Amino acid sequence: MKRVLSYLGMIFLSIILWTNCTDTSNTKADASSTAKEAPDPLERGKYLVGIIGCGDCHTPKKMTDMGPVPDFDRLLMGFPAEAKLPAINKSEITPGKWVLFAGDLMAAVGPWGISYAANLTPHDSGIGTWSFEQFKRAMTEGKHKGLENGRPVLPPMPWQSYREMSDQDLEAIYTYLMSIKPIENVVPTVVAPGEI
Ligand code: HEC
Repeated sequence: MKRVLSYLGMIFLSIILWTNCTDTSNTKADASSTAKEAPDPLERGKYLVGIIGCGDCHTPKKMTDMGPVPDFDRLLMGFPAEAKLPAINKSEITPGKWVLFAGDLMAAVGPWGISYAANLTPHDSGIGTWSFEQFKRAMTEGKHKGLENGRPVLPPMPWQSYREMSDQDLEAIYTYLMSIKPIENVVPTVVAPGEI
């Protein structure tokens, strides 16, 4: 009888454990599908910025034994104002030759001149004062600061690829960017090709 009871006990325990496990995995699935499909703009924005890789160009890197990794303390702050570029060999950057990238992918030199990844944090020196309309215009029409008469946003910012992004996704990215740590950083001004 004792044995039967302890068998029953084990079965009961297994059922409880099984139910708990199932619950946990459901919760995990819910959390990731929220970011992928669903409506919480903040989660969705964080997810999009992560998978599109905005930080590949807009976040400074730390060099480790395994190569460069994003410096999350300086998330999306753009090309650091005090950073210096190495010497540029102008004869290599004429059309049809090389395009140069700084080692951390935050500045690029090509036939368009020198461009520096922008500060995307909600500080005044970043996009802190931008309306959603400005953000949308910069992202989908390639206008600097999202102003109608703004200069064209230069390569390698791949705004042409973002042209078809839905308003919902743009709003999610904007909401997320406005929620991250504001960092003061006035990114250097672009340099025209003749001035390199
Ligand atoms: C391949 C590198 C690269 C990637 C990836 C990239 N950017 Fe950029 N982005 C740049 C550079 C460089 C500039 C500055 C261009 C200039 O000054 O004309 C820029 C400019 C911008 C601007 C305009 C800033 C201004 O002052 O007008 C916005 C907004 C922006 N990026 C947002 C994003 C977002 C959001 C993502 C991801 C969805 C992203 N970028 C992905 C390189 C990149």
